[in-house]
This record gives sequence, C-alpha cells and structure tokens, in this order.
Amino acid sequence: MANNLLKGKRGIIFGALNDQSIAWKVAERAHEEGAVFVLTNAPIAMRMGEINNLATKTNSQVIPADATNVEEIDHLVAQSMEILGGKIDFVLHSIGMSPNVRKGKHYTESNYGYYNQTMDVSAMSLHKTLASLYKQDAMNEWGSVVALSYIAAQRIFPDYNDMADAKSLLESIARSFGYHYGIKKKVRVNTISQSPTVTTAGQGIKGFKEFINFSEQMSPLGNASGLACADYCVSMFSDLTRYVTMQNLFHDGGFSNTGVTQGVIERFGEE
Ligand SMILES: NC(=O)c1ccc[n+]([C@@H]2O[C@H](COP(=O)([O-])OP(=O)(O)OC[C@H]3O[C@@H](n4cnc5c(N)ncnc54)[C@H](O)[C@@H]3O)[C@@H](O)[C@H]2O)c1
Repeated sequence: MANNLLKGKRGIIFGALNDQSIAWKVAERAHEEGAVFVLTNAPIAMRMGEINNLATKTNSQVIPADATNVEEIDHLVAQSMEILGGKIDFVLHSIGMSPNVRKGKHYTESNYGYYNQTMDVSAMSLHKTLASLYKQDAMNEWGSVVALSYIAAQRIFPDYNDMADAKSLLESIARSFGYHYGIKKKVRVNTISQSPTVTTAGQGIKGFKEFINFSEQMSPLGNASGLACADYCVSMFSDLTRYVTMQNLFHDGGFSNTGVTQGVIERFGEE
C-alpha cells in the first residue's frame, strides 16, 4: 500500500546485501512511497552483485563505501547530493558485523582486534556518517536518520556476544548526535530495535533458529517481520514523525515489555 509518504524526499540507504536484508525491504518500500535514493554497501559486498538488481528495480545508483572509512563516507555523501540533486532527507544505517561472532570466539575470550572492528563497523560507522553529513551540511531540516538496533543493548542474550556492546554504543551515539543535530539543523536521529529477523547477519548468531522461535512465543504480537520494519522506517522518514528524536524505538511485537507469556510458562509445568 503506497501513500506517497516520501514523495520528493532524497535518501541514502546503507546495508542492502540481498533480498533478505532489512535495508533491501526499506529500499523497496521507500521507492514505492515516492523517494529517490542512493544505495551503498561495503566494496566487498558488491562482489555478490545482488545490489545491482535492487538498483535497477528502484531506479537508484550504487556508491560503494566502507562505512568505517571517513574519506569514503565523505565521498558518498557529496556524490549522493550531486546525483539526487540536493540535500538529503533520510538515511538508513543498516550495518552490523562482528569478527568475534564470525570466528566463534566466546565473549569472555574476545579478541580485542576483532572487538575494535565490531565497534567500528557496527557503531562508530553511525558517528562517522552523522559527522560527515553534519560537516558537509548535507541534511535538510527535519531530515531523519535511522539506525537498526537490537534489545541485546539493554539485556543479555549470551550468543549475541560483542554485538550487544556495539548496539549499546550505537544507541548512545543516536542520542548524543541527535541532540547536537537537533539543535543545529532540526535533524532527527533514532534507532529502531527490531525483532530477530532471518537475514545473513541474523543467521550468523549461534542458536538463531531456536532463538527466533523463543522470541516469537515471548511476543504478544509475534516477531515483527523485515517488511514490517521497513514500514516503520518509512514512517520515521516521513513528515508524520517530526518530533521523534534521540529515541530507541522497539519494533518487536511487545517482546521488550513482556516478562513471560502463558504459552511459555505452561512449558515449565511439564514434569
Ligand atoms: N536480523 C536480525 O535479527 C536483526 C535484528 C535486529 C537488528 N538487526 C540489525 O539490522 C541491521 C541490518 O542487518 P540485516 O539483518 O538486514 O543483515 P544483512 O547481513 O543483510 O545486513 C548487514 C549489512 O552490513 C553491511 N556491512 C558490513 N560491514 C560493512 C562495512 N564495513 N561498511 C558498510 N557496510 C557493511 C553488510 O554488507 C550487509 O549489507 C544490522 O544493524 C543488524 O544488527 C538485525
């Protein structure tokens, strides 16, 4: 259902790897809602080539950029304004990667080189992106930046490993930069804390299938899908949410406020 919610808006969308990616669904929905945007991902992710199909489908150009590299981000921001013909109205940060998770390192035995990379890719990249937009005065007033997070920022989920620490930092950066950008340019910065969703990044977490089922049963509305997350992102990019900033917004079917559900507790009555 398209309502022209983003008609006339220009954006940058990070993180569409394949059609399971949350960013992919956001790009499809933003296109349906009338937005124009640039797609970006790490140069290494381009090799898979799938992003070009999304670019064709959404009439967008692709600019490779490693989100940890300040020069590449600066170039991305400048090029995006040129391609789209003006300042930017919305940015989606949909980036996560932990070498400690990938290499199966236990949290208590984290490799600190990897740990730095987790923080840089998954959290500091948001700061670098915001700083580049700020420095180049690249956002229109009332523009909206959204980064995707997970509830492991607040509560322990053991297999989420150092990504939990990265998400805490990510949410803090959204608050801190949201303050400064709000005062300077009325730009909004928020994180959306999404339900577990079947994607390439999600499936990298140990025990993900069991966990997704647990989460489904612990959420009164069930897990929120990637498509539903895309709808929420679109609403956060639209003018209907202008006074929402510096928030971590749970998009999780009620999981975050549920102590236990009847369905789950009944399992513990079995001898
Ligand atoms: N899937 C879930 O269960 C879930 C739940 C909550 C939040 N999230 C978050 O949603 C976001 C998107 O993840 P996804 O689940 O769609 O998985 P995904 O694997 O499709 O997306 C992750 C993206 O990060 C990109 N990336 C990695 N390193 C990069 C770098 N150096 N520079 C630029 N891009 C880089 C990857 O190429 C990929 O496109 C992540 O922040 C993730 O933590 C996912």
